[in-house]
Order: sequence, then C-alpha cells, then structure tokens
Amino acid sequence: MSAQTKDRRMNVRDLAAMKGSRPIVSLTAYSAPMARTLDAEIDMILVGDSLGMVVYGMDTTVGVTLDMMVAHGAAVVRATEHACVIVDLPFGSYQESPQAAFRSAARVMAETGCNGVKLEGGVEMAGTVRFLTARGVPVLGHIGLMPQSVNSAGGFRVQGKTDDGARRVRADASAIADSGAFAIVIENTVEALARSLTEELKVPTIGIGASPACDGQILVTEDIVGLGGDFMPRFAKRYAELGDELKNAVGQYAEDVRARRFPAAEHCFNPPAKGSGAKPRLAAVSSEAVVAPYTKGRRGA
Ligand code: KIV
Repeated sequence: MSAQTKDRRMNVRDLAAMKGSRPIVSLTAYSAPMARTLDAEIDMILVGDSLGMVVYGMDTTVGVTLDMMVAHGAAVVRATEHACVIVDLPFGSYQESPQAAFRSAARVMAETGCNGVKLEGGVEMAGTVRFLTARGVPVLGHIGLMPQSVNSAGGFRVQGKTDDGARRVRADASAIADSGAFAIVIENTVEALARSLTEELKVPTIGIGASPACDGQILVTEDIVGLGGDFMPRFAKRYAELGDELKNAVGQYAEDVRARRFPAAEHCFNPPAKGSGAKPRLAAVSSEAVVAPYTKGRRGA
C-alpha cells in the first residue's frame, strides 16, 4: 500500500517524514498517460532527465534542455493529483552559480507546478543546494553515479568501490544532507556504503542500484515494464513486457488496415438513411463531429 495522503498531493515534507517508517516508492514519468497510470500507486514521480535517453534517444543526459524539462514536467503535473512530483534540473542549467540554479529552479517550479527539483552533485553543489532551499525551492539531491558527469567520470561506473571513492561519496552525502536537501538519491553505489549512509543521514535516501536498506527506491518506469529497448540495467527488475504487447497490437492493426478490416462500420460516421425515422447519431459529418472526440475528456467518445 502506498503512503499517500488521502485528500491532497504528497509533498516533500511527507516524504522526509517517511524515513524510519515506510519505504518511499518512486518511479520516473515523462508524459501525461504514464503519470496518470502511476499516480495512485506511488509516493513520488520523478520527471528525470533520463528522458533524453528514454524518450529522445540520446546517448547521455547531457543534451537535455530546460525547455524539455518544463514541457514534460508540466504534462506530468497536469495529469496527477496524488504523487509528489519532482523535476530534474538538466545539465548546464545550475552548475554555473547558485543564482543561475535559482533562476532555472524558479522557472521549473513556476511553469510546471511541481513540488521540487532534483540536481546532481556533492560537496561542490552544497552551496547551491543551501541557496535554493533557503529561498523556497525544495531540493532532492543526487549522489553516487551522476549521469550528467559521464564525460568527466569516463563512463557509467559503480561508485564507492575504493577507500577513496567511498570517502568521496560519504562526503558528498553529508554535504548535501547538511545543506537542506529533503532527500538524496544514491545511484549505482556499493551496497554496504549506501546502507551505512542510510543509517547515518537524517534525511531519506532513495536508492537506484544502491541498497534494499535505503529509505526508498526509484527506477526508470520503461525499464521495469519492457519499454526501455534492449539495454536493461543490472539494478532494474522487469515486471511486464509491454514492448512485446505493443508490437503485437501494432502488428494486428497493420494487418487489419491492409486487409481493409479497419475501420469497420462502428468506427465510421454515417448519417442514417433518408426516411428511416432514426435520429442522427452525430451531427452528420460536420466539423463538430470530427473535432469533438479529441476534446479533453472525450477522446474516442
Ligand atoms: O533522470 C533520472 O531518471 C534519474 C533517476 C532514475 C534517479 O535521475
């Protein structure tokens, strides 16, 4: 059962208060239909910059723009009413200075209506996190593997394997927690390290390739339902094969169209035959009849 509040959207304080009581359940969503599907089941939806790879077919998240995050973030917020929605700040929109970070975060929050933003970084971002949180921007930290730094890190590697590496991740975690982040994502990090950070930090940790001991878990939704393509991260678990189902549905549609089985009579707008006495089902084939099914709440009516 999710820890959602009954009559209102979850917020970052609700999530922070879950530490030590029950796990925070979170997933990514980038679109209204996916967000609508997740909304009642989970506590937090992340509009992650992973959308660059998952939706736009990029090799990394480095090319994602603020405009993309705003457009997808707004779609997700519009489609949801229960889950707390956090939107990623993309590469280049916050690293330059706390002021630049505030401008980006304020735009994301004002134009999407989300509950907070996420940014990647440890010790070097602590001042920025402090600047944002002191000015009304809730921040979800992100340490361990930081995909926006893939070019300087030389690839997507497990973090905290060496003593030095573990010391770095530990320093990042406490710097971000001390700066006012409401929670911290720990990505692709040695299990024992993520576990001990979870025990030490006052704020919740949300693991992705980290530890079952984390205060919550997050995954990319497409990875767990079979819509993520051939690549499957080792830390993700597959719960459905929607990609196969989709391919099958599209194949059937293609066969129907080629065999002229679709559209059938019930999918066409035919005025009743003259003199039959029946009332017209729709206003014949007027522009109203064509447009109405695509107005909000009436798709396919
Ligand atoms: O961009 C993203 O989707 C993420 C997570 C999966 C944590 O940062």
